[in-house]
Amino acid sequence: MSHAVTCTAPVNIAVIKYWGKRDEELILPINSSLSGTLSQDQLHARTSVMARADFASDAIWLNGKQESIENPRLQNCLREIRKLAAAKQTHQQGAPLPTDKVHICSVNNFPTAAGLASSAAGYACLVYALAQLYKVGDSLAEVTKLARVGSGSACRSIYGGWVRWVMGEAADGSDSIAEQVVDEHHWPEIEVLILVVSDHKKTTSSTAGMQTTVETSSLVKHRADKVVPQRMEDIQNAIRARDFETFGRITMQDSNQFHAVCLDTYPPITYLNDVSRGIIDMLTKYNAHKGKIQAAYTFDAGPNAVIYLPRENVNEVVNLVRHFFPPAVGAEAAFVRGFRDVPAAP
Ligand code: PMV
Repeated sequence: MSHAVTCTAPVNIAVIKYWGKRDEELILPINSSLSGTLSQDQLHARTSVMARADFASDAIWLNGKQESIENPRLQNCLREIRKLAAAKQTHQQGAPLPTDKVHICSVNNFPTAAGLASSAAGYACLVYALAQLYKVGDSLAEVTKLARVGSGSACRSIYGGWVRWVMGEAADGSDSIAEQVVDEHHWPEIEVLILVVSDHKKTTSSTAGMQTTVETSSLVKHRADKVVPQRMEDIQNAIRARDFETFGRITMQDSNQFHAVCLDTYPPITYLNDVSRGIIDMLTKYNAHKGKIQAAYTFDAGPNAVIYLPRENVNEVVNLVRHFFPPAVGAEAAFVRGFRDVPAAP
């Protein structure tokens, strides 16, 4: 007998960044974080999982290519889910046996190597699909914990809207979960533009980068202890009040501090390139010219810009990007992919 489930999960883009673990194995962060989940229609992972007693071994295909199942993060997810399934004996209710082997096929509808939070969507999707298959994870909070052991930021993609990942205090990670702050209908005026500056694979993985940062940066301790707790409060209040000025300022400040922490790491980590810095300058001048914050940039562990902005500013910002960053800027190209459809180039 075979059991199969297919799911999709969207990308999320943090405005308060997660950077640094206090427990590498359980993926417990040194600070809480907060993100917006993008629309499923745009960037998503789609994953199918099938379990059968006669499969010889577990196997995984990513974007049509078979990959090693031995990836430790993947193994952590499979082990945790099977442990729960064995404890609940859910196979008696029509789920596969925990000992049945599973085949996993996952496809992203966007460039996997482009540093666009592909692991967040991928692990959220995988874990959600496996939890359905094995009939475990009684609440979404439980599923966020399972997603967290795949990739920390994946726990936030389990919910739509604005989502916080509470760092928690427990040594076993039981209180390190993601929670929805408000759903996707709360602030429909906000759009997201993604400027793909480079689709090269990032030079330093987030796992390796975070580890070196925690070992060598004194700034990251200050950030985690003294800066992020207040920012978490303030940005949640701004989102609840739909206050773009405050939201945008904190978003940009937090991105800046994350990249400052990367530079404070030894040896230093540089994710931004000249095009990224050009985009920061352009938006800083645009906001100054308007006399208030009209668009807010944020950068993850790579040079690509994500811009949160009210819908009424989308045309103007897209035109600015097209003017200052025509498709070929030096060796890199900058172009726009929309959260929703962006206007066609003139
Ligand atoms: O979950 P990871 O290991 O891919 O780390 C994500 C780190 C950032 O994207 C830079 C920040 C975040 O909170 O998503």
